[in-house]
Amino acid sequence: MNRKEFLQNLGLSAGALLATYCLGGLSACSSEGVQPTGSVDFIIDLNDAAYAALNDVGGFIKKDGVVIAQTSADVFVAVTQICSHEGLKRIEYRKSKNDFYCGAHGASFSTSGSGNNSAAKAGLKVYNIDISGSQLHVYS
Ligand code: FES
Repeated sequence: MNRKEFLQNLGLSAGALLATYCLGGLSACSSEGVQPTGSVDFIIDLNDAAYAALNDVGGFIKKDGVVIAQTSADVFVAVTQICSHEGLKRIEYRKSKNDFYCGAHGASFSTSGSGNNSAAKAGLKVYNIDISGSQLHVYS
């Protein structure tokens, strides 16, 4: 008798089985990871001193739970600050690796939000950016 059969013999429902499996740490339970809730919609002005870091390639800022980075000349990427691994708000941009990184357990995400390692397998939410002059409109 395997684990599933054993639990079914105990009379647990499908939902209870899933919860039991997740507590056991099976990978299928965490494939979606922790994702941000709510919408994002704001504009920043690159001429504002508060966002001066964005005027340099490799610079990044954090605003309203979003990390915005200039990943290459005049190319900006916005992602959630919430790591999909365990939901910690620790995502930062790393110029040296051109990735988004969470120092809690080492999750590394590409600039398109895909995971680069097992801790990042659930990916990272990437937001839209429209650029008009010095204005960046970031939205979900
Ligand atoms: S919470 Fe980010 S790597 Fe674990």
